[in-house]
Amino acid sequence: MSHADTPKVTVVAGVVRGVRICLVLMARLAVLGGLALRCSLAPGRSGFTPRRDAWLLATVTALGPAFVKVAQILSTRADVVPRHVARVLSTLHDQVRPLPLGDASRHFGPELRRALRDDGAGLAARHPVAAGTIACVYRADLADGRTVALKVRRPGVVRQLSTDLAIMLALARLVAPLPPLRGVPVADIMRQLAESLRGQLDFHRERRSLRFLKENLAEVPDVRVPQVYDELCGPEVLVMEYLDDLHQRPPAGTDGEQAAVTALRAAYHMLFLDGFVHCDLHPGNLSCGPGRAVTIVDAGFTVRLTEHARHKFTDFFHAMSLGDGQACADIVLSTARPGRDTDTAAFRRDLAALIESCGGATAATFDLMDFAVQLFALQRRHGLYADPQFVFPILSLLVLEGTVRALGPGLDFQAVAKPYLMIALMERAIAAAQRKQESG
Ligand SMILES: Nc1ncnc2c1ncn2[C@@H]1O[C@H](COP(=O)(O)OP(=O)(O)O)[C@@H](O)[C@H]1O
Ligand SMILES: [Mg+2]
Repeated sequence: MSHADTPKVTVVAGVVRGVRICLVLMARLAVLGGLALRCSLAPGRSGFTPRRDAWLLATVTALGPAFVKVAQILSTRADVVPRHVARVLSTLHDQVRPLPLGDASRHFGPELRRALRDDGAGLAARHPVAAGTIACVYRADLADGRTVALKVRRPGVVRQLSTDLAIMLALARLVAPLPPLRGVPVADIMRQLAESLRGQLDFHRERRSLRFLKENLAEVPDVRVPQVYDELCGPEVLVMEYLDDLHQRPPAGTDGEQAAVTALRAAYHMLFLDGFVHCDLHPGNLSCGPGRAVTIVDAGFTVRLTEHARHKFTDFFHAMSLGDGQACADIVLSTARPGRDTDTAAFRRDLAALIESCGGATAATFDLMDFAVQLFALQRRHGLYADPQFVFPILSLLVLEGTVRALGPGLDFQAVAKPYLMIALMERAIAAAQRKQESG
């Protein structure tokens, strides 16, 4: 499915589903009201926060898989939601039934059917190695001896999620003018979230993205990305090399610090040199070890940065490494849309203070997560919502930070970044000189 093929949501289906969603929301709001009342009557008015968090998880789950997926994406948007909400939403899990390969294989094309060693009963009995809301992943053998991973989209998932996304967009437009949300670009943010989710439904795009990642990261030593077998893929099936040594936790024999350096190098290569970024490098998609090796899978959530955004981001990181708060403020202001009440001078002052406070931090004490969260909180406070092109690179590093910190606690993020920053700045200077020569 490409974005152009997004199925039209029929009015009847939309209305029926919309009414159901409204009923669920009303029932859940009544539960929240009850909770608030009970807690306000309790001695010390305590216990509301954990109950509210549990209520939020239960509400999102009750609303269905599209809401769960959007909330999972939202949990990575440190620029949009406060940290505690992000933490709660990040614990949401896909609640799905694994689909036997027999059912999934109905959508296989003739080339793939012919290529598979098993058919009929052999396939029907096969269970997925991983099952998510959008797809299941299976291990299968080809007649020519290759072992492949088949990522198969769940039947009906595009229509189901598209209806809910249309309703979510309508709801976002409805609540946007409410006073607590004034100044927050709710509809824009919802559109971005919907776009990310649609990207994950688009297997042509994912296949292309995986190919780009493999080509781009071939230059980074010790990074592995599965090979895509294009001739066997289809709109609902992604066929790739099966990598059987993926681990959620690094196995014995992993050189933690070196594996962390490998992962960071891959991230910086994508950010500063390629401008094509895997935005979802959580431990399910990034496997570390053995030795210093790192394996990256799942190109469902990638972003191609414009050259302009890549340059801005490189300049920001560079200015930050020099402790130049004013330059950082200039860059953020040039990428963000100021709100009605934005006081740019105050923002400048606060950002400069933040950058300066990081200037003296050693590698072990500089916390990228903390820095980014403060940066985003500062922007929200000043009514500035940055262009997502500028935000996504930072988010991709945040998703990675937990893993890198656990593997190499003393690792200096900035030192690993420096060679990539230098190459990016040099390449840009050479390109500018060439352009000048050609025009002059
Ligand atoms: N090429 C592969 N070889 C082996 N296992 C894979 C491969 N690709 C994915 N997997 C396994 O399947 C899981 C889900 O695949 P992924 O592409 O991340 O799907 P999802 O989009 O549902 O997260 C991965 O976390 C990994 O364990
Ligand atoms: Mg994944």
